[in-house]
Amino acid sequence: MQVLRTKQEAHAEVERLRRSGLRLSLVPTMGALHAGHLSLVRLAAPGCDVVMASIFVNPLQFGPSEDLERYPRDLDGDLRKLEAAGVQLVFAPQAQDMLGSDGLTSVQVERLGDVLCGARRPGHFRGVATIVSKLFHVLQPHVAVFGLKDAQQAILLRRMVRDLDFPVELRYGPIVRAVDGLALSSRNAYLDEAERSEALLLQRSLAEARRLVQQGERRAAEIERTIRDLLQTGDMLHVDYVACVDTLDLQPLQELRGNVLIAVGVQLGDTHLIDNIILAVRHESVQDADIEGRPITTKPNVGSESQG
Ligand code: PAF
Repeated sequence: MQVLRTKQEAHAEVERLRRSGLRLSLVPTMGALHAGHLSLVRLAAPGCDVVMASIFVNPLQFGPSEDLERYPRDLDGDLRKLEAAGVQLVFAPQAQDMLGSDGLTSVQVERLGDVLCGARRPGHFRGVATIVSKLFHVLQPHVAVFGLKDAQQAILLRRMVRDLDFPVELRYGPIVRAVDGLALSSRNAYLDEAERSEALLLQRSLAEARRLVQQGERRAAEIERTIRDLLQTGDMLHVDYVACVDTLDLQPLQELRGNVLIAVGVQLGDTHLIDNIILAVRHESVQDADIEGRPITTKPNVGSESQG
C-alpha cells in the first residue's frame, strides 16, 4: 500500500494510474477508522482497479468551539486497517499542504447545509464541500463512497457533484452498528459508560419510528413526537433536532411519502451524536433505503467499536 503525504505526490501518482487506464475509487475519511469506514472500502472495490482512501482531519469543518484538537487520531492503526482491507493508496496530507494559509475560495451548497446539523454548526458543510472538492481534484476518483450515518452530508455532496459537474459516481454505505445498536462513529470514543448506555436511545427511538411507519403511520408530527418522547426519557441527553425530511432537498415533510430521512441529533455531555433511518415509503410498502430510495438491508451489528 502506498502512503502519499503531499498533494503533489498524490496528484502525480493518480495521473500515472489514470493514464494506464485504471479506474480509481476513493473513500474520504478523517481517520480514527472503525468497521463503518471499512465497509465503505468494500463498497468502493467493485468495478474499480485501485481503491484509495484519504485521511485528513479537516479543520475547515470544525467550528471554533468544536473538537478539532481532541478529535481521535491514530494514523498507524488506520494504515494497518486500510492495508488489511485491501486499500492500495492512502493520501494523508498535512493541513498546511492541503489547505495552504491564504485560501479565499470555498464551496457552499445553498440551503442544504443550513438545516439539521448545519443549524448548530454554521460553516460545517461549507468546510466539508470545500475539502471534498479539493480531494476530488487532487485524487480524481471515478467513484467515491460516503457513509449514510452522515446522511445530510451524503445528500449535500450528491447535490454538489451534480451542480458542479464533478465526473464522479457516488456510492453510499449503510450505517454500521455496534452489537448494542449504537451507530459506529469515531466520536463514540468520547462517551463514558453512562452516556453510552443513554446513547442507545437514538437507535431505539428510530426503530420505534420505523415500526410505526410500517404499521401505517404517515404523520411526520406523530413520528417526531414519538422519537422525542423516547429520547427525553434519558436524563443526560439534550435533543437538538428530530426531523422527517425529503432525501432530495432536506425539506420538512408533513406526511411521509417517497424517500424519507428520519434524522436525530442530540447532545450527550460534551459529545454531539447523530443517527437516522431512511425509508422508501410507497403506498403500503415501507423499506429501508439509501438516499436514492434503493432498498438496503440494514446490516447485522458488528461488535466492538474498534473492530476493523
Ligand atoms: O465524513 C467524513 O469523515 C468527513 O466529513 C469527510 C467526508 C472525510 C470530509 O472531511
